[in-house]
Amino acid sequence: VSDFWSTFGVDLHVDVDPAQGRRAGLEYALRAAIRSGRLATHSRLPSTRALAQEFGLSRGTVSAAYDQLTAEGYLIARRGSGTTVAEFPQSPGVCEPEPHAARTPRFDLSPGSPDPSSFPTALWLKAMRRALNAAPLQAFGYGDVRGTIELRVALADYLGRTRGVVADAERIVMTSGYLQALSLLAGLIARRPGATIAMEDPGLPYHREVVRRAGARVLPLPVDALGARTDLLAGPDFAEVDAVVVTPAHQFPAGMTLHASRRRALVEWARSRNTLIIEDDYDAEFRYDRQPVGAIQGVAPDHVAYVGTVSKTLGPALRLGWVVLPAHLAVAMAEAKRYTDHHAETFGQLALADLIATHAYDRHVRACRVRYGRRRDLLLSRLDAAKATHPAFADLAVEGIAAGLHALVTLPPDSGVDEPRVLAAAARHGLALGSLGPHWHERTRDTHSGASLSQGVIVGYGKPTESAYPGALDALMKVLQAALVG
Ligand SMILES: Cc1ncc(COP(=O)(O)O)c(C=O)c1O
Repeated sequence: VSDFWSTFGVDLHVDVDPAQGRRAGLEYALRAAIRSGRLATHSRLPSTRALAQEFGLSRGTVSAAYDQLTAEGYLIARRGSGTTVAEFPQSPGVCEPEPHAARTPRFDLSPGSPDPSSFPTALWLKAMRRALNAAPLQAFGYGDVRGTIELRVALADYLGRTRGVVADAERIVMTSGYLQALSLLAGLIARRPGATIAMEDPGLPYHREVVRRAGARVLPLPVDALGARTDLLAGPDFAEVDAVVVTPAHQFPAGMTLHASRRRALVEWARSRNTLIIEDDYDAEFRYDRQPVGAIQGVAPDHVAYVGTVSKTLGPALRLGWVVLPAHLAVAMAEAKRYTDHHAETFGQLALADLIATHAYDRHVRACRVRYGRRRDLLLSRLDAAKATHPAFADLAVEGIAAGLHALVTLPPDSGVDEPRVLAAAARHGLALGSLGPHWHERTRDTHSGASLSQGVIVGYGKPTESAYPGALDALMKVLQAALVG
């Protein structure tokens, strides 16, 4: 197989197998590139002359290959505007789009993401420019596996100041978001055969899968009105547990903070059993009614792996998160990161360090807090207004504290209005919504009849743009009305 790099406007790697013959080999390689999406729809192919020269083929050969692929529908040849790639369905499995990306809903209140239009593009560009201009040559090579010292120092200060975290740059490892932190931590724990990690029930099913794939067993830890039942950890059902994953500042998805008595029980359990608390502090920046409660890590730094992320404050696309580790795990975690991908991308880290050090990050978070707090108020006032006019709305309840980017709205029990009914109405109105059902652990779902588990929809009010939010709320109210009143 001979390899060619062609400058199809972009660099494209094309394998032409000479055993197939020159023309057939070129056709085959181009077909494969188009099918897999490496040559994207509408992209322009080089002229036959340029490609012939680049590949050392005759122009006639390239021209014949183009004609063949045009006849087959892979390419479109237009006189004067060259040859472009036709629309072509990609082959499955090669570059499958995420299912959620398959269709864009008209109104999007699915939980998980902040408003993408709130990304501080101008600030980020400025910080990135400063970072690149100031970077010494070594910054362009491999760096410290834990992440850049600039960001770890800035974060240690920021987390101490805003979250009461006892942080030292030496004990911070930068990761590709919370997910990678969870995956690497679970992998360290799973070195012990039969390792078990307790996770909140309900909680994100995706995170359970991450833990299982890292090799650990997952045990459900029930959540009630006071938060995770950490009081149960000392009991016989949890005797084998090595670590527990919790969202103490704002339980996902139910929305409460972990009660003080449960925080005490959790810390006491970790100290007495010498076990690990994985603290997921994913959206603690967004508390609207008061100061957020401090991180548990602040009271038990030797038993907590504290994890944070920019996914809610800046956006998930940056894939930037951090773990503040207990001393005994700091080296092992850095090594785990080394043997996964060496270290997080450097310049995003330097830009973030710049934003934090100049307090631009604080100002951005504060502005977002005002924006999302207003959105939550608007959601609540719309629901209250509906309750005043429709008795059917009376038993809808918004759970949890005034915080974060989502609200769990529980459906009235025994009313016959269940999640499938609301989701079907949402689908009819082109509205994307989350629902509580998938967040229950499989075992809990199996042992309860579906009806006895509480039912609810999760409204992600962070995701729409400012201008789209009122329309999305209108759609939500129509959906609830259709589901509740019929
Ligand atoms: C409960 C919870 N934890 C953590 C995260 C952040 O994950 P990541 O940093 O990998 O984007 C999310 C994002 O949706 C979340 O819902």
